[in-house]
Amino acid sequence: MRSNALKEEMAGRVGAAAALWLPGELMARHTSLGIGGPADVIEIRDAFCLPELVAILREYGIPWRIMGGGTNLLVADEGLEGVVLHLARTWKALEFQSNRVEVPASQNLGTAVMECAKRNLGGMEGLIGVPGSVGGALRMNAGAYGTQIGDAVRSLTVFRGAVGRVETLQTSEMRFEYRHTSFAPDDIMLSALLELPERPYTDILERVKQCNQRRRASQPVNEKSAGCIFKNPPGYSAGKLIDELGLKGTRVGGAVVSERHANFVVNRFQASASDILKLIELIRERVLRACGVELEEEVIIWRDIAKLQ
Ligand code: EPU
Repeated sequence: MRSNALKEEMAGRVGAAAALWLPGELMARHTSLGIGGPADVIEIRDAFCLPELVAILREYGIPWRIMGGGTNLLVADEGLEGVVLHLARTWKALEFQSNRVEVPASQNLGTAVMECAKRNLGGMEGLIGVPGSVGGALRMNAGAYGTQIGDAVRSLTVFRGAVGRVETLQTSEMRFEYRHTSFAPDDIMLSALLELPERPYTDILERVKQCNQRRRASQPVNEKSAGCIFKNPPGYSAGKLIDELGLKGTRVGGAVVSERHANFVVNRFQASASDILKLIELIRERVLRACGVELEEEVIIWRDIAKLQ
């Protein structure tokens, strides 16, 4: 019932071409973990519709959240009440101006890194194997091999869910910290202006190759995962702590602590979200008991959209 009314309202006020209504999508199909029950998804094809779309959702009292590439996300088996917004992968080109580039948030991160490389713009090589969208990377300040995306950001255009409008922020108006930013969960990244160092394409390719090799050697890149499960606590490596406790290979249901990197929980045997959550708790308790260190999740967990912080 609600679905039909909402769909009609959207078609009338937003237009079906700008936002595609996808009811009851299995979130397992949208997440790199391959886990998650059904949710109503709205695929945004034209970000100009966001103020009106979010106004409609507010009028209907429907909670919503924005999903990036779904590569750092664990969604409950029961699925989600409310609506998941998702920016469609546009083919909008990156816009270059000397050593600056405007990158759409919906762009795949790896593709963006390589497009910049072709223009002899480097500095993002470390991010090459980080799966997901540019928007998700900005939101989490994704980083690897000494690179954090936030370091390159000079301005950022964002839809502010709280006030319902698009704003362009300068560096002084936002904070990028280790796997954390000053953005709210209902801020929707739209694009970022990055400033990158000029480097010869061949040098960038060489570094990209090295990072790929290191990643393949140390992370379970061919298994379903959400990347590192925990943040590194100050002064420690979460993977090392978990490894030293002998927890590699520990299994709950279909979820396993990767033998390749202990801070990865992989979905090896058709794991449920509940298997992953139980394994996360088991690891956290063991590390707390043995080392006195409290591990904080890096992975985003969606159980109930209305209660998300
Ligand atoms: N280590 C172990 N056992 C393990 C895993 C790691 O002993 O099972 C040791 C390594 O030998 C090394 C140290 O722990 O001495 C650090 O390991 P690694 O170089 O793999 O880095 P990390 O701190 O575990 C971080 C990021 C990764 C990123 C890599 C590479 C976090 C939580 N993780 O991992 O990011 O790819 O550095 O720069 O910050 C992610 O964010 O999802 C992620 C995977």
